[in-house]
Amino acid sequence: MPFALVVRGLEVLLVLAAIAGAVDVWWQTGAFERRVAADARRRRRLLSLSQVNPPSEETLRQAWLNEQRQQLDRLLVLREGPRPPDSLSRAKTEKTEETEEGFAMETPPTSGGASGAFRWSGPIATPRLRLRPFEDGDQSFLVDLMARPEVVRWLYEPTLTAEEVAQAMPARKSRVALVAPGDVLQLVMVTRDGGQAVGHVTLAWADGPHRQGEVGFIVHPDHQGRGYATEGAETLLAIGFDTVGLHRIVGRLEARNQASAHVLERLGMRREAYFQESEWVKGEWQDEVVYALLAQEWHGGPSGDR
Ligand SMILES: CC(C)(COP(=O)(O)OP(=O)(O)OC[C@H]1O[C@@H](n2cnc3c(N)ncnc32)[C@H](O)[C@@H]1OP(=O)(O)O)[C@@H](O)C(=O)NCCC(=O)NCCS
Repeated sequence: MPFALVVRGLEVLLVLAAIAGAVDVWWQTGAFERRVAADARRRRRLLSLSQVNPPSEETLRQAWLNEQRQQLDRLLVLREGPRPPDSLSRAKTEKTEETEEGFAMETPPTSGGASGAFRWSGPIATPRLRLRPFEDGDQSFLVDLMARPEVVRWLYEPTLTAEEVAQAMPARKSRVALVAPGDVLQLVMVTRDGGQAVGHVTLAWADGPHRQGEVGFIVHPDHQGRGYATEGAETLLAIGFDTVGLHRIVGRLEARNQASAHVLERLGMRREAYFQESEWVKGEWQDEVVYALLAQEWHGGPSGDR
């Protein structure tokens, strides 16, 4: 056999070996993806046997990724110990925030005079009320309040049992500060003469860098019609704008909740939006109305309408 023919044969063998190697790498890489997809399909099939609306493959994939992230967090806590809450708060109030896509969003400056945070440190007096955080002693008042269908009619939650109220007490008691986006301040309104709890008011600092807040209120039916919700909520607006430095505070309600709309109007808020059948709540499509107030309006300036 001529030497040139042998060399040619070896060249062909080498090319064939290279192609086989490339096909193997491609197959192995795809195999992992196919295994994950097949696993998601199998789990979805199993779940569809017991649920009307089985979660999508993407939802399952996200759930799996979240599980992995949580495991990683747990391992980090074991290795480095829990992070102090202050460091978390500081991280959240940095000048920029990263979005999920990884680009930085600017945080607007705090308006003049505001310290940027509020921590409850003692009862806040209004003309007729004292505002303070929830205590264990408020449990029976709360049970009486939240067991009433007329109170929860336009809220997301159903009536609550004594056990459900007790379970949520630690969370309610912890809502004492607005230090970073995502924090919630919830205060019980107690009459100054007699120390009777009449309801509660809430101010939530919305997640994200835009200095937005949301106000809410509930008054026990025995004490409605006396202006307590307006008096308590006005104090929270002052905290939100003057101390925390929020830029805009909204009040959201179901369109038929006239009593709530009147409170927001008494507070000087503008009716800003009407969302038709935007939420499925308690077995029906509900309309949502949004009222809002800007810091400059609170301070007596013009609205931000353009
Ligand atoms: C929404 C809710 C807090 C409003 O309660 P309210 O008692 O009507 O509101 P206020 O405490 O501000 O009281 C206002 C009423 O008191 C009267 N009032 C009496 N004295 C007053 C005073 N010194 N200052 C102000 N108002 C006074 C007002 O005229 C007003 O009556 P009107 O609505 O008949 O005009 C109450 O209906 C409630 O708890 N609902 C269930 C929970 C809920 O839906 N929360 C809102 C979720 S978005």
